Amino acid sequence: MARILVMHGPNLNLLGTREPQVYGQTSLAEIDHELRQRAIAAGHELETFQSNHEGALVDCIQQRGAQAALLIINPGAYTHTSIAIRDAILAVGLPVIEVHLSNIYRREPFRRQSYLADITLGQVAGFGSYSYILALQAALHWLQQQEPRVSQST
Ligand code: DQA
Repeated sequence: MARILVMHGPNLNLLGTREPQVYGQTSLAEIDHELRQRAIAAGHELETFQSNHEGALVDCIQQRGAQAALLIINPGAYTHTSIAIRDAILAVGLPVIEVHLSNIYRREPFRRQSYLADITLGQVAGFGSYSYILALQAALHWLQQQEPRVSQST
């Protein structure tokens, strides 16, 4: 059993009502619930956290990241600005999957830059709330691949 940490950055608490033509109609609570159910069904724990504040996201990575096997994160607008979030992930050595509801490469040019992309296992973008499900599937697959290595070393 592994613990998966799912983090959401600023304005994602408004999912469902925020620009539904871009981000869809599914609420964050619905996304978190669906992810937790799927993780439990696969035999893992899943913890979620949302904040509109960069420092709170950094604190969460430092504090909860140390107990997690993998991080799934949608940093929202901090994707395009936050060296602090990047550095926190590197500091705790957390494997990370980056998620976006929208296809950030089909939008304004400033959204094409991600301060995380080159330190991730991979990125999922453009499938609405299903991006999170795809990221979780990738996470479960990645965790499964690590298992033989863990049992070899114990
Ligand atoms: C987002 C894309 C970001 O550019 C934006 O600032 C968000 C949401 C997405 O999920 O598509 O807040 O991360």
